[in-house]
Amino acid sequence: MSRADVVAAMADYYVQRAAYYERVYHKPERQTDLRAMEAWLPDVFEGRRVLEIACGTGWWTPHGAARAASWLATDLNPETMAVAQRKPLPACVSFEAVDAYTMAELGTLTFDAAFTGCWWSHVPLARLPGWLDLLHARLEPGAVVVMLDNSYVQTSSTPISRRDAEGNTYQDRTLDDGSVHEVLKNFPTPDEACAMLGPRAREPRWIAHEHYWILQYRLA
Ligand SMILES: C[S@@+](CC[C@H](N)C(=O)[O-])C[C@H]1O[C@@H](n2cnc3c(N)ncnc32)[C@H](O)[C@@H]1O
Repeated sequence: MSRADVVAAMADYYVQRAAYYERVYHKPERQTDLRAMEAWLPDVFEGRRVLEIACGTGWWTPHGAARAASWLATDLNPETMAVAQRKPLPACVSFEAVDAYTMAELGTLTFDAAFTGCWWSHVPLARLPGWLDLLHARLEPGAVVVMLDNSYVQTSSTPISRRDAEGNTYQDRTLDDGSVHEVLKNFPTPDEACAMLGPRAREPRWIAHEHYWILQYRLA
């Protein structure tokens, strides 16, 4: 598969999984991490105008947006956002269908914070620097950025099925209809992730939970 096909296959997989995607947030062994991260998010974005990339079903949205000035939740797929839109959410939250790889739908909008959950891991390594540049171009000086994602935990994660020539790893995931989908899913080390951030990133901070990691930084 080409890099573009890998990206398209991942987007399609999440459309098919949208109705029951949040089961992954009910795994008993992840509850302690989830409560800690949910409690941590509101302070980080207090008073900020936040762009959320790939919001999906909006698991993180109510927590991040709790005290934000505004929160634009975006995703490529209306099917995943529809689940988020049915939830009770802070009044500052709005939604828009946006392709994270172009952000063209955002016109000239800029923000003073950005958040994305479980997105970094799905971006092919060769596309990460370009994607980060695109995101940073939307952000004002001093903006706060938070990425969070899954850590690989042998007893809880779907096994890695293969590694490609560029170093991306993949998982074979089975949906409820029995179909199996190969999904690109990377598990960066703190050094690998921080090395991607580019020259505007300041004070990167890696917070390791058992099942998740958080990368927080500011832009110059
Ligand atoms: C792993 S889910 C993350 C959802 C949510 N942020 C979370 O942490 O639970 C990945 C999301 O990326 C979305 N997605 C896939 N391709 C995209 C693209 N090109 N632009 C924006 N969102 C995309 C999918 O629709 C899906 O909702």
